[in-house]
Amino acid sequence: MTGHIAVTDDGGVRTIRMNRPEKKNALTLAMYLAMTNALREADQTGAVRCVLFAGGPDVFTAGNDLADFMKAADGGLDPRAHEFITSLARAQKPMVAAVNGVAVGLGTTMLLHCDYVVAGTGAKLMTPFLKLGLIPEAASTMLAPMRMGHARAFALLAMGRPLSAEEAKEAGLVNTVVSPAEVDGIALKAAQEIAALPSRALTLARSLMRLPLETILQRMETESGHYKDLLQSDEARAAFQAFFSRNQ
Ligand code: COA
Repeated sequence: MTGHIAVTDDGGVRTIRMNRPEKKNALTLAMYLAMTNALREADQTGAVRCVLFAGGPDVFTAGNDLADFMKAADGGLDPRAHEFITSLARAQKPMVAAVNGVAVGLGTTMLLHCDYVVAGTGAKLMTPFLKLGLIPEAASTMLAPMRMGHARAFALLAMGRPLSAEEAKEAGLVNTVVSPAEVDGIALKAAQEIAALPSRALTLARSLMRLPLETILQRMETESGHYKDLLQSDEARAAFQAFFSRNQ
């Protein structure tokens, strides 16, 4: 396990906490791998009944590490991010998210795979994919319009307009908005409530409520093909450079 991902099991709930505050929890390849392993292991561990994703008090995650994107623009895409994305789709155990502060890129699109989302009042969801010359991933091009309608999904995913916690709740992306200090506790309570449900019935109900796995995986593949191409485009390279040279 990497030091930037803390995995703890307690009372049927596995908490996967992103912990790289100095870089706003930007997701490195090692973090993706650790989260993928923690999710896969959760499925194989009977005692784990629900997974809880959490970040820090000021930030959920700044999304993919842009330094890794710059490397990918030159050397090709490492499969670890994609493996995490597909492991979200494949996960059998229900997933809860506790979101404080900004949730960027995958930080927002992963919420579409979660079953219950608690957000703090200051939370901000944003997906600047197009501004980076990329397209949205994690099957969000399919799941977001279904969840919130095309108009809202387009503003979020294509125009990169952020959603406040309240707007995200209104859009059906977030279940409840609470004070930042309460986020972790209320999310844990929800996860414990889910963990206490009869497990066979829970697994069945959850899988029946979701789109067929193959449909989701197919969309992820399609997005990923375009994503790989776009990562190597001049527009994307320029956007990554601009981020790192913004204070120079
Ligand atoms: N990848 C790599 N490093 C990142 C990062 C990312 N996605 N997001 C933030 N960081 C780093 C910054 O470079 C900075 O590092 P430094 O202190 O060594 O210079 C540090 O984290 C703090 O970030 P900063 O931008 O100063 O914090 P902020 O509170 O002003 O803004 C964000 C926070 C998340 C809004 C802003 O950092 C941002 O927009 N990040 C990029 C998000 C993004 O485009 N992600 C990819 C989505 S597909």
